[in-house]
Order: sequence, then C-alpha cells, then structure tokens
Amino acid sequence: MGVSAMTTPTPEAISTPTVVRATNLSKRYGSFTAVDGVTFEVHQGEVLGLLGPNGAGKSTTMRMLYQVTPPSGGELELFGMRSGLDARRIKGRLGVVPQIDNLDEELSVRDNLRITARYHGLTPAESRRKAEALLAFAELEAKATVEVRALSGGMKRRLTLARGLVADPDLVILDEPTTGLDPQVRLTLWDKMDDLKRRGATLLMSTHYMDEAERLCDRLLIMDGGRIVAEGTPRGLIHASLPPFVVEGRLIGGDDTPFRALAVEDARDFVRSGDRVSVFVRDGADALARVLEGGADADRTFVRPSNLEDLFLRLTGHGLRE
Ligand SMILES: Nc1ncnc2c1ncn2[C@@H]1O[C@H](COP(=O)(O)OP(=O)(O)O)[C@@H](O)[C@H]1O
Ligand SMILES: [Mg+2]
Repeated sequence: MGVSAMTTPTPEAISTPTVVRATNLSKRYGSFTAVDGVTFEVHQGEVLGLLGPNGAGKSTTMRMLYQVTPPSGGELELFGMRSGLDARRIKGRLGVVPQIDNLDEELSVRDNLRITARYHGLTPAESRRKAEALLAFAELEAKATVEVRALSGGMKRRLTLARGLVADPDLVILDEPTTGLDPQVRLTLWDKMDDLKRRGATLLMSTHYMDEAERLCDRLLIMDGGRIVAEGTPRGLIHASLPPFVVEGRLIGGDDTPFRALAVEDARDFVRSGDRVSVFVRDGADALARVLEGGADADRTFVRPSNLEDLFLRLTGHGLRE
C-alpha cells in the first residue's frame, strides 16, 4: 500500500535527496507581486513548513509547485525535473491536500478513495486494496459506506489527506491542513501527520498557527509579504533571534518601573503596549523574582518561553494573525 511504501526510498530518491529546488521564484499578478523571489529547497524525508499570515504568499508558492500556476520568474525544479516542461510527470509524483476539501460529496468514503486510485491508473484490484489501506490510515473503516456529505468536518479532512496519498506521492503538499478545525480535531489530524512523518514521507505544509509549525515541522520558512524573512528549525530560529524567556505583566496605574529595571540586551527586548508589558530575558525565574520584589502584581505577572509569534513580531513588526 502507498503509505507504507514511503519507508522504502527508491534508488532514484537516494541519489536525488533534494525534492524541490526553487531559486528566486516569483509570481506577479499584474503589477502586484504575490511571491517575491523566494529561494529554498525541500529535502527528502523532511517536514518543511511555510509559516506566515494571510496574504504572505504561501498558497501561491505551493500552487507553483504543484503545477497549477506558472511562475513569473526564477527557477523551479521538482524531482530533478524542470517545472512546466515535465508538468505531467511532476504531478504524478505529488500528493496535494488543498485548503478546501475537494471530495465527491455524494460518493461513499470508500468510493472516493477507490475512484481516485482508478483515476491514477491503478487496476480495480489495486484500487480496492489501496482504498482499504487508506481507510485504515484515516481511521474511517466504520464510515466506509457512508456518503461523504454525512461526515463531520474532521472526518472529511482525514479523508482529503488520505486521498492525497493514493498515488504513493514522493512529496505531499498540504495547504493549511488544520485551518478552521476545532482544537480536538486538529489534534487527530496532527496524529495522522506524525504517522506519515514516521513513515518517512516528505511533506511541505503551510500554516499560520505557530503551535502547529513548532509541533510538526523539522524546518520552517517564515514568509511575509511574498518573501522568506527567516529560515531554520523552530527552536533554532527562536534561539538565534530572541532571549529564551519573556516576563509578561499587566500594569496597575501604568507603572512599568519594575519591568524597566530588568536589564535587556537589546532595546527591542522591552515591549510595552497599553497596560501590557513584555520583557525578553535570559533567566526567566530570576527576572520574575526581581519584578515581584520591585512591586509588580503577582497575579498579573508570569514567565513563558519565547515563541514563534514573538519571533514573527520582531522580524516583521506585525502579528501572524491579522
Ligand atoms: N489569482 C490571483 N490574482 C491576484 N492576486 C492574487 C491571486 N492569488 C493570490 N493573490 C494575492 O497574492 C497574495 C498572496 O496570496 P496567497 O498566496 O494566497 O497567500 P497566503 O496563502 O499566504 O494567505 C495575496 O495578497 C493575494 O490576494
Ligand atoms: Mg493560503
């Protein structure tokens, strides 16, 4: 079956560990530049995340990769083949999980998988086997004969994911796989993606959720305004750019003296917005003790680790969700 076949790299895959190579890739719509010269690689077996707010250019970048929109500039290679020229062969090796479920609502769950497999050129017998294997992967065996329109949102999302795996893809592209799902459903989808990761799949996913990026991705490209503004592992990016902890407080009467008394390494480590103050520090416990000694309200003051949202704010001056 397809998903387990991913654990056995083909000889070709071993000799070409770079699955995607994008060089100075751009996309313009009229005078508007949606993707503005991005350079990156996707390596075999990694989970690479595009993290950025709405409008950053994540979907446009992915659409160029899966051959539905041609680049306006730059170079793009997938599996060592030139994008555009070899579009059919490239598409045959990709699994795409779009942001909006594209299932056939009036077909059963099993038939959605079986017919997609037939469409990809599998024989009827192979298609049946593939459908059963993917039903198990998506934990939808009990719903096999149910029409898709009767499924919950989370089940539809798992089925969309499973359908993207029908052709044993060498790269799975997932555009905002959990946007709009409730927290419990997101967790079950994360489990499925972990499962794929353990089987050695190569995944490229986009998200505007920093927790999802940190939880699932081996490496991140942080995107804003069509550009890649930073690249690295989730923890590595944070550690390279920010002190590890943040003391946060809500001020009473506007007095920020105890927070100002903390030494910061960089003027940007002290952030005040209205009655809220955040101070980035090396030693969280020590800083907390000192602001409390200095008179900060213990009920309104806490320490947390620095995160990707903090990093994004520092790099771009705005948040991930706006
Ligand atoms: N077909 C299109 N025509 C014009 N502008 C577009 C088109 N597709 C996307 N854009 C614009 O390009 C920018 C990037 O969009 P998109 O790639 O969808 O961002 P993201 O997926 O990060 O939210 C947005 O400003 C969007 O409005
Ligand atoms: Mg998008």
